[in-house]
This record gives sequence, structure tokens and C-alpha cells, in this order.
Amino acid sequence: MLVLGIETSCDETAAGVVADGRRMLSNVVASQAAIHARYGGVVPEVASRHHIEAMLPVVKAALAEAKCKPSDLDAIAVTAGPGLAGSLLVGLNTAKSLAYAWDKPLIGVNHLEGHIYANWLPEAEPPSLPAVVLIVSGGHSELLLAEAHGVYRLLGRTRDDAAGEAFDKAARVLGLGFPGGPTIERAAREAGPKPPRLPRAWLGAASHDFSFSGLKTAVARVAAESDAPRADIAAGFQTAVVDVLTRKAVDVAQQTGAGCILLSGGVAANGPLREVMRQRSPVPVFVPPPVLCTDNGAMIAAAAHYCAEAGRAALDLDVRVSWPIAG
Ligand code: KG4
Ligand code: ZN
Repeated sequence: MLVLGIETSCDETAAGVVADGRRMLSNVVASQAAIHARYGGVVPEVASRHHIEAMLPVVKAALAEAKCKPSDLDAIAVTAGPGLAGSLLVGLNTAKSLAYAWDKPLIGVNHLEGHIYANWLPEAEPPSLPAVVLIVSGGHSELLLAEAHGVYRLLGRTRDDAAGEAFDKAARVLGLGFPGGPTIERAAREAGPKPPRLPRAWLGAASHDFSFSGLKTAVARVAAESDAPRADIAAGFQTAVVDVLTRKAVDVAQQTGAGCILLSGGVAANGPLREVMRQRSPVPVFVPPPVLCTDNGAMIAAAAHYCAEAGRAALDLDVRVSWPIAG
């Protein structure tokens, strides 16, 4: 099954073509990061406007790179939520129009499910289920048990900021630029041997939830009250986030007996997070290459393959700004 996947939930206009949920034929991403950088975060109206401009050229490029004609496609998949309403609408209406014009089924995909299935795109042996899934992005920090394709149990989530949002806010406080994940990671490489130890919110031994707002406040306090270099504060922040994310994911893997841990979402591009997770995990850790961790269309096409198998395809699709992947 050949699927065109379209993604516009936040600030990347993206499209990719994937065969059978695994073989990536193309993956084209037009990032608006540089446009939003001057505002220090994503401005929703600006994002929708740029999606409109970039959408069709990105779809054309994805088909051309895949050497594929519209008539070769078996389905069109699109992120229907969660995300920014105006941004989602651009992708969804494009996908609906193309599905109608080309007479193809339309598959609405949950953005978080897309992040999970980025783990099926690398050529190596795919993950087996059940698996513990940690999705850490600009809008989400979710710990799930994927019991089977499309069947998820929510084990923990953030109670305030998402992990990526914490990176973005900490970077802003430190004057490191947007998006904050890559800038913090880069700054932290220049840190001295004794970065400040910043607080971890464990929220009690039994909880698998996260909280990052206290850490964000601690970054602001240390930056204002001490003469610690920015690189040291960035390293202290990154170490605290990585410590909490990895310990909670590993705890859950031990408690559930899941066969592996799947790491996904933009923050999964973080080198220390990938490394520490692998060191601490008792089971294999799957993590997509960094370019497939951040938002892209190929992951939506991959997820759609498994959604279609479960019979989830509809033309009366509408955006779902909040769409929980599991209750
Ligand atoms: O998944 P994504 O592209 O978009 C959302 O669905 O939100 O994730 C974007 C988030 C941003 O907050 C960004 O700062 C973070 O992922 N990010 C990183 C890194 N690269 C991107 N966080 C930590 N380290 C990175 N290398
Ligand atoms: Zn995302």
C-alpha cells in the first residue's frame, strides 16, 4: 500500500510517501522555524499563512522525490489532530481536496500516533509490541503502553509544560534562541565540569507523570541570581530533563514487562536523552533518526498504514485540536 502522508499540525509543512508503512520513498519538510524564531515561539496565524503557501509545492516535491504519480497512490493520510486549529485545517483541507480529485481514500491520523510510527521507518528490524512509548515533543510528554497496533494505554503525562516546551522556555530565559532543544543541546556541550544541579519533579514513586514548570523556574532563578555560565545552566537543565524522562520510562518498562522502549517526538532528537535511555534501559530502545523525530509527513503515512488495517478511513474528517491518543 502506497500512502502520501501530509502533516501541518504546528510549524512544519510536510509530506512524504511511504510503501507498506515501512519503506520511505520521500520525506519533504518545509520548516518555518526561522520565521517564528524572531517571536521566540510559534505564532499560530503566521503558521497557517505559511502552510497555505508551502503546502502544494511540498506535496509536489514529495511525489517527485518518490517518483510517484497520483494514480500510483492507494491512500492519502493527514494529521487531523492534536495541533493548532488553523494549521491543521490547511493540511486537512488539502488532503480532502486531493482525495476527492484523485479518488483516493482519506485517512485521518493522530499526530502522536505518527510520532510513534516514525520508529517503523528505519530499515532495521521494526519494534515488536507491547512496547513502552515515550512521546516528547513541543506540545506533549506522554508515557504510553502500546499493547497492539492502535491500542494504547496512557500511563503518564505532563501536568504542566511539555518537555519540548520546557526546552524552548529555558532557552528563551538563557537567550539561546528558538527552537530551544537544539540550542540547549549545543550550548550544553560547552559546559564546564560542574554544572548546577537543578531540581527534578518525581511526583511520588508511584506516579509516571511529569512536571517541568518548577525546573523552568529554577533555570530563571539560577540565571538571575548566580554567575554560572549559560552553557552550565543549559547542561544542568538538560541533565535534569533527561534524568526524569529516562528513569520514568525505564520504571514503566520494568513494571509492565514490555519488550522494548520506543522514543519519539522532537525531543527524542536529543543526543544525551538517546544515549542515557540506552544506558539505563533493560530492554532494547528504538529511536528514529533525528530528522524523523521532528514533525514530518512520512511518519503520518506510516501510521496511516496501520490505521487503515484497523479500518479507520473517512471522508467526513474534521480537525480535532485536542485528540487524546489514550484515556
Ligand atoms: O515533534 P516536534 O517537531 O513538534 C511537536 O509536535 O511539538 O517537536 C518540537 C520540539 C521543540 O520543542 C524543540 O525544542 C524540541 O522538539 N527539540 C529538541 C531537540 N530538537 C527539537 N529538544 C531537545 N533536543 C533536541 N535536539
Ligand atoms: Zn510533533
